[in-house]
This record gives sequence, C-alpha cells and structure tokens, in this order.
Amino acid sequence: MINPAYFESLGNETLEFLSKAEKLKKEKNAVVLAHFYEPIEIQLAADFVGDSLELARRCKDLECEKIVFCGVSFMAETAKLLCPEKCVFIPAPDAGCLMADMIDENHILRLREEHPHASVVCYINSTARTKAVSDICCTSANAVKVASAVESDEIIFVPDRNLGRFVAEQVPQKKFFFHPGYCPIHDNLKLEKVLEAKAEHPGAPVLTHPECQPEICALSDFVGSTSQILRFVAESEDREFIICTEDGVIERMRMLHPEKTFFNPDRETLFCEGMKKITTEMLIDTLENGVGEVFLDEGLRERALRPIERMLEIK
Ligand code: 13P
Ligand code: SF4
Repeated sequence: MINPAYFESLGNETLEFLSKAEKLKKEKNAVVLAHFYEPIEIQLAADFVGDSLELARRCKDLECEKIVFCGVSFMAETAKLLCPEKCVFIPAPDAGCLMADMIDENHILRLREEHPHASVVCYINSTARTKAVSDICCTSANAVKVASAVESDEIIFVPDRNLGRFVAEQVPQKKFFFHPGYCPIHDNLKLEKVLEAKAEHPGAPVLTHPECQPEICALSDFVGSTSQILRFVAESEDREFIICTEDGVIERMRMLHPEKTFFNPDRETLFCEGMKKITTEMLIDTLENGVGEVFLDEGLRERALRPIERMLEIK
C-alpha cells in the first residue's frame, strides 16, 4: 500500500500526468506494466510493477488490447513473445540492457559445441535471438529452481557470470560452464563500498541482487530478485537496510516504508540508464499515439517462446 502522505507530497505536474495517463489507459484499453528500476512517476502510473518473472507471468493473463511496457527492450520483447495477439509498446524503444547486448546466438552455438551434453540456461536479460538458441530461461527469482529442475547434469549458464556463480553454489551437484557477461551496474559495485556502508550502519542487513559480484553476495544477509528484496524489507522488523541493487528499488522502498531507512552503498554506480530512459512525456505519447510498437518475426517468436514457456511451467 502506498502511504497517502506520499501522494500529498507529489507536485501538481506529476498529479496531472497521473490523471492524464489514467484517462488514456481507459480510452485506449491499455495496461501499463513497469519494472521496479523505472523512475518513480512511471511506477506510479503503472497498473502493475514487478520483477522480471512477475511481469512475464502477469502479461499472460491480461485482457486488454494494448500492453505498454515500461522497462528495457528485452522485457517488452518478452511480453510480445508471450502475447502475440496484443499490441505491445515500449515508450523508449532504445532503452537497452547492457548485459543482454553482451551475447548473441553465435556465442551459444560455440559453447554448445564445446559442451555437447550441457543444457543452456539463459537469463531472461537477453534478446529474443539469444533465447531462440537456448533450452530454458530463468530470472533472478527462479534461477536456482530452474537449474535444479533441468534434467542435464551439465549447464551452460548465459549471459550473467555473477548470477551463474551464485546459482552454481546452490546447485553443487551440477557442473556449470559460464559466459563472461555481466551487468555493469551491479558488477561495478565494489566490495569496499559495501564494507564502508556496513561500518557506517552496523546492524543494518545487507540485501543484494545476485548480479553483484560473488564476494558481495557472500557477505550479504539476503540475496534475491528485486521483488524478493522488497518483500524482505516489508516483512522485516529491522528499521535500517543497505540495498545493493539499482536505485529505483530504493526509491520505491522509501515510498512504501517511510518509517524505515535505506542506504545505497554507491548511488553513482547503482543507476541503470536504460531503465531511466522512459519519461512521463514518452509514456503519454505512447498511450496517445501508439509510439514504440514492438514487432517480432513469427519464426523467431516461436523459437524464443519455447524456453520462456519451459521456465513458466516450473512452479
Ligand atoms: P529482477 O528480475 O530481479 O527484477 O532483475 C532484473 C534486472 O534487470 C536486474 O538488473
Ligand atoms: Fe540490464 Fe543491468 Fe540495467 Fe538490469 S540493471 S536492465 S541487467 S543493465
């Protein structure tokens, strides 16, 4: 529940934007989905805000004509894979994920040749072309479950080496091969910054996204997806937290829990430019004029959908 005082603190411009977005959504039979890293005004305009897994699950059961996806392009692409009959839009079509761009299908084909008995587990932060040559997808929320569930004893984990290592530790019975991709936002967070934050705020639990480096995950009190981190905060009796993930999550926590205090160990680093590309004007333009529609070749869509569907079958 968003506290009423937060709404009262919003300026007139934001309130006008929110009421215009609300009106347009009804008129156009559109649903707005947003990731937790989006600017807070965009999160407020959304009908549903979630982590990558929740957003993928949610778009499957929507009854609207149009989905406006506020996130980075692989997320909007995933919505189109899952909902081909709907018009899917992303208000900033050039909002990219730096990690998704670190791998293409040729890297996977090479890894498959080197490890012919391994299954390819592909992090959802990847393009449709990369997914199309993978066996199963995962997100940070279900990666351990997915890796445990695949039949093969050998796993090629792409593209995030940090999430891959985190999963390998939890699934020691399998052999892992990694692609060297990473998220520059999380990977650039240095251990010293987290140690400094711990020294300044002793007793505050450290909550970390698994895209961070292994030594940061190792000293953390909890490692999980953005939703799982938010849930930890909501359920915890603690009053102070050190949050090792992108700043949008921290802004949301401040909005939801004004009685608690959140520390970002490195604000300059933990900022994803791709996620901050969508502005209020762009969202209105998309709702009003249909800017930024996502199109996918049907053959590619069918191939890229298979690993996503396999993932969604795992409960
Ligand atoms: P979540 O699936 O945990 O929301 O993470 C998405 C992401 O891009 C992390 O950098
Ligand atoms: Fe991609 Fe990293 Fe941004 Fe997440 S935070 S969308 S992994 S670049």
